[in-house]
Amino acid sequence: MAQIKRVKGTQDFLDLSLFNFILQAFKEQADRYHFTQISTPLIEPLELFTRSLGQQTDVVTKEMFVIEPRDGKADERICLRPEATAATVRAYLENIPATPWKVFSHGPMFRYERPQKGRYRQFHQINMEVIGSHSISQDVQLIKMLDRFFHEQLKLEDYALMINFLGTPQDRAVYRDALVAFMEGGEAQGVCDTCKVRVEKNIMRIFDCKKEQCQTIYTKAPRIVDHLSTESQKEWERLQNELTMLSVTFTYNPSLVRGLDYYNKTVFEFVSTSLGAQNAFCGGGRYDQLVGELGSRDDQPSIGAAIGIERLMLLLEPHKDTLPLDQPAALHAIIPLADELNPLALLVADTLQAADLTTDVLFGDSIKTSMKKANKMGATFALIIGDQERDNKSVVVKNMITGAQQEVKQVDLVDYLKK
Ligand code: HAM
Repeated sequence: MAQIKRVKGTQDFLDLSLFNFILQAFKEQADRYHFTQISTPLIEPLELFTRSLGQQTDVVTKEMFVIEPRDGKADERICLRPEATAATVRAYLENIPATPWKVFSHGPMFRYERPQKGRYRQFHQINMEVIGSHSISQDVQLIKMLDRFFHEQLKLEDYALMINFLGTPQDRAVYRDALVAFMEGGEAQGVCDTCKVRVEKNIMRIFDCKKEQCQTIYTKAPRIVDHLSTESQKEWERLQNELTMLSVTFTYNPSLVRGLDYYNKTVFEFVSTSLGAQNAFCGGGRYDQLVGELGSRDDQPSIGAAIGIERLMLLLEPHKDTLPLDQPAALHAIIPLADELNPLALLVADTLQAADLTTDVLFGDSIKTSMKKANKMGATFALIIGDQERDNKSVVVKNMITGAQQEVKQVDLVDYLKK
């Protein structure tokens, strides 16, 4: 029969040491900045995302994993979550905790994208949100937390922080007119057909275009930061000044608009050229209208970000030896030399495990095969139990590194191994 393969765009993780290290380091960082961990479901109503991410975004138009209802009630359609912000806002609205609500979560997200290096259909994010905080200084603090996490905790050097400021919806309405005028003018005649459609449907999306000819044209496009109200202009300046004050290095990128529509004001991405085409390993921004759009009567201006764990792992893999990853504990492999000795082997193993010693038992092989397996497993000690050892109430302990071998009484075994 044909072998069953994993679903396209998914991965098996057989060694989680780096993955867990990232999570643990982030939890410590989140603690320092007073974030609490939450968890929300993997499945959510489809409408949660169609209403929040934007009808014209790639995620909504072509990347949702929709689960069709059995009884055909289209309004009850659910989906696998493509991201965690809308879900966190939903959880906020259902529980109304005190604000600012500073929370983080992690887990798999699902997007039906064309798989390639750093792009999967099931991937993992660490997601953080601050719900109910209007101050731009909050944005500064969140960005500083991330920059410090990458630089100090994970010792990453080869990355850049891109920022842009999208203003308020009113700023964008003013800007939109300037951008439409540019797109209708002579300079923008060579843009691709998709961008022509974007002008009609959601003009800011033109900046997402991957075509070089379009990107060259957009370097001459009007910039949103030149169309901000006085108040927004002050916030944009504060964002830059306070980041600089906290020694965060950043690059202003006027074409950074992010792939989801809920953003306003601050948007940012941490990128690295070593990732190739999928170069962002963390992205986020402010979303002051989303809580209201999802049903709140109060405005709850908010900011958040998500780290792509797989992309971060790609960046860390080459220098993971320099990171303090958890080392596996010394392994004790018990080898009973006959099936009748299995009960004794189980008892000895039980005593060692109760004493916190990592222990495995190799049942049912010849001594030669068992020793080979113990070696492959990376055992530090092989504990051999034959008839003679049973009669003597002892075990032969072989140090797998030095090769030294010694008979030890079973009552003394824990003390001997802990020495
Ligand atoms: P996003 O930019 O769509 O933002 O995703 C954040 C990060 O997740 C990306 O920078 C990337 O590292 C990773 N990522 C996204 N798609 C994939 C994929 N198909 N395969 C592998 N990694 C991927 C959000 O999801 C927003 N919810 C972030 C946010 C939180 N904004 C405010 N709060």
